[in-house]
Amino acid sequence: MKISIGCDHIVTEIKDYIASYLEKKGHEVIDHGTYDKQRTHYPIFGKRAGEKVASGEADLGVVLCGTGVGVTVSANKVKGVRAALVGDMEAARYAKENLNANVIAVGGRIVGIGLIENIIDVFLETEYKPSKEKEEIIKKIDALVTNEEQMNNDHYFDEFLEKWDRGEYPKQ
Ligand code: RB5
Repeated sequence: MKISIGCDHIVTEIKDYIASYLEKKGHEVIDHGTYDKQRTHYPIFGKRAGEKVASGEADLGVVLCGTGVGVTVSANKVKGVRAALVGDMEAARYAKENLNANVIAVGGRIVGIGLIENIIDVFLETEYKPSKEKEEIIKKIDALVTNEEQMNNDHYFDEFLEKWDRGEYPKQ
């Protein structure tokens, strides 16, 4: 499978570990960064990783930040993305089976690495089980968003990066 991944600076080493984990399992990983520990912003990477799934360039996505919350909220704003923030295998299975989630998200500072591996395995291995009802509601949910103008605009969050640079945020 082709897997799009992204994270913020809080969990870069976990994202790198997961990228290798996936590659060892034979998947092709498209790593959208971030690539180091320099402060950045989670929505950039939720958006980027999500867009590659929405466009069909990747089959599925994996996104991480400290809690997983920020990256999930932003990935879910990409039209066609259904990102599920989970902390256990059952929720990962549910997300795929019932909502055909195409991005899985975890909090790298919350969930242990062994459980993250298991969550991702379940997410990749579980098949969506379509039904008329599920199809209808997924279609309706997908129609809720979005701001088409921002699709593939990699500079959408630049103003927030500039705030980091000017020291306008408290230390995180
Ligand atoms: C750091 O920016 C931290 O707030 C972020 O990784 C995440 O936990 C947000 O949901």
